[in-house]
Amino acid sequence: MKLLVGTDGESKRTWLKGTFTNGVLISCPVSIGKLVLIELDKQCISVFPEDTWFPTKVEVKSPEGDTYNFPIYRWITDSEVQRFREGTALRVFEDNNYLGRYSRQKELQQREKDYRWDVYAKGIPHCMEATDPCSLPCEIRFSFTKNTEFLYTAATGLTELQLKGLADCKKNWTNIEDIDRVFCCKRTRISDYVHKHWKEDAFFGYQYLNGVNPMLIRRCSALPDNFPVADDMVFLHDQGSLRKEMERGKIFLCDYKLLDGVKANTINLKKQFLMAPLILLHETPDDKLMPIAIQLKQTPADDNPIFFPTDSEYDWLMAKIFVRSADFSAHQLNVHLLRTHLLAEVFAVSLLRNVPMVHPLYKLLIPHTRYTLQINYLARRLLISETGVFTQFAASGGEGIMTILKRSLSSMTYSSLCIPDDIVERGVEALPNFYYRDDGLKLWDIIHRFVEGVLSFYYKNDAEVEKDSELQKWISDIFEHGFLSQTGTGIPESFTTVVELVKFVTMVIFTCSGQHSAVNTGQYDYGGWMPNTPISLQLPPPTTKGKTSKATMLQTFPDVNTTVQGMATMWLLSKQSSDFVPLGQYPEGHFSEKIPCKLIKDFQGELEGLSADSRESSH
Ligand SMILES: *[C@@H]1O[C@H](CO)[C@@H](O)[C@H](O)[C@H]1NC(C)=O
Ligand SMILES: [Fe+2]
Repeated sequence: MKLLVGTDGESKRTWLKGTFTNGVLISCPVSIGKLVLIELDKQCISVFPEDTWFPTKVEVKSPEGDTYNFPIYRWITDSEVQRFREGTALRVFEDNNYLGRYSRQKELQQREKDYRWDVYAKGIPHCMEATDPCSLPCEIRFSFTKNTEFLYTAATGLTELQLKGLADCKKNWTNIEDIDRVFCCKRTRISDYVHKHWKEDAFFGYQYLNGVNPMLIRRCSALPDNFPVADDMVFLHDQGSLRKEMERGKIFLCDYKLLDGVKANTINLKKQFLMAPLILLHETPDDKLMPIAIQLKQTPADDNPIFFPTDSEYDWLMAKIFVRSADFSAHQLNVHLLRTHLLAEVFAVSLLRNVPMVHPLYKLLIPHTRYTLQINYLARRLLISETGVFTQFAASGGEGIMTILKRSLSSMTYSSLCIPDDIVERGVEALPNFYYRDDGLKLWDIIHRFVEGVLSFYYKNDAEVEKDSELQKWISDIFEHGFLSQTGTGIPESFTTVVELVKFVTMVIFTCSGQHSAVNTGQYDYGGWMPNTPISLQLPPPTTKGKTSKATMLQTFPDVNTTVQGMATMWLLSKQSSDFVPLGQYPEGHFSEKIPCKLIKDFQGELEGLSADSRESSH
């Protein structure tokens, strides 16, 4: 049944007819003033099978000839009357109708019950409380949770990659050709390239720009005290001394200090090894980024040699392999899990708890939070839980996971989440061939223009931002539950200006879209060929030079079954879901007003331009 409420009265409760896939159009027979909300109740849905009833929107024609639009986009399953507001966005301080305000309060009370904060582990961002997938509120659940959960298990990946037969093989690799054969089951254009070039220094350097972890590299203007590379140790392709090149801004550093002292896993009853390397790189005159020195542990010592490209083939290659393996843990836990997934969850839970559907911020952000909560739920259950794939098979699995996540959060800054600031802070503005930066900055600008357009349409001055209590609660919960109230992060605790609000919301959309794809999509491309990204290593690195051989390398690689589990997981995690929605496409029309709708069109146009541009320049 439906009931319409207007500023001057209500309609009679009547049946709501029509198909809901494209919304329904109804007319309101009596004049009841400006329409405020529509009530839908259980009786009207009992004729539909419960799990298929997902009304999109209801359009109402009034006797005066006006059309009102009610966005619904929610599963309706409980027996309570549900109220939906007319589509025109309203902040709490302008929501003057008594019944409107009442339904606003009711909605938030219900949401606070449905979405509760939970502490998964001390020192990491809070998450949504959920005991099993069926306990998730239905509007955020996958339609077929069981299937999806199944899809997320490594067993499925092993089957898809035809590697099931190797799941019990705890042997060492004894030759590279066997790894080739396993790898051949599933190849991509990029993974083939990686397979061919993984040993090359230029490709090793390139991955810091456009591989899955473009977040670590920074310009080096002074060597860290614990990385004593002397001028005469490095060969700079005839470019003069290290000191001079440093002054010219051509030397870069990747420092994995985050991993220092992290307890390594035990796999197949064998102790594993995880390094915390320092890598120095040189930008050459022909625009390559070449590694020139690698130290695998943080504290300089005789048994912690600094490796150079001039060392023996296998000494240098092993040093790079230990770096790539360290990068796997740092990337997955800090760059991927924490900085995109876990933060996205905090943004989403805070939005759902504090901001009602009729609020412009809800309309703007809700499409970007799609599936965040259940994906993270599955990640906690199937990847990092006690029996999770990551826990069992990664060098940092187990205790290491939490150590790394906690350290990562305590050193996270707001500016590192905002790509224009991040690029400047890292001093990588001028590095050639840095497509993550080039595309990322363009994308940030496009999102920023869109967000600025939408939010400045609603917020005409800073005072309106300050007095919007729902908006303020959204950010203060993020500060508290996401960043654990650490003021040092630079994350705002409240918003005082429109400019500040626009920037933060831009960061949220960027993090949930472009940033996540940048660090997620290439996982199998770059990691499918195990030697390029070993998820764990089972011998210590060389402590003196000249003793390493191909045989040592093969013994150091993870066992056959650890390898294939890693491949299967990366394959699954980088697969695009079948109902993927590209950024800027909003199948749900939450906005009703002309200006935001027009801004969405412009946004889509700009995004199309951007992807056409990057297609053209991709090589
Ligand atoms: C590897 O296989 C052995 C059985 O041979 C099994 O006990 C072990 O758990 C497997 N390890 C991994 C990492 O899959
Ligand atoms: Fe992801």
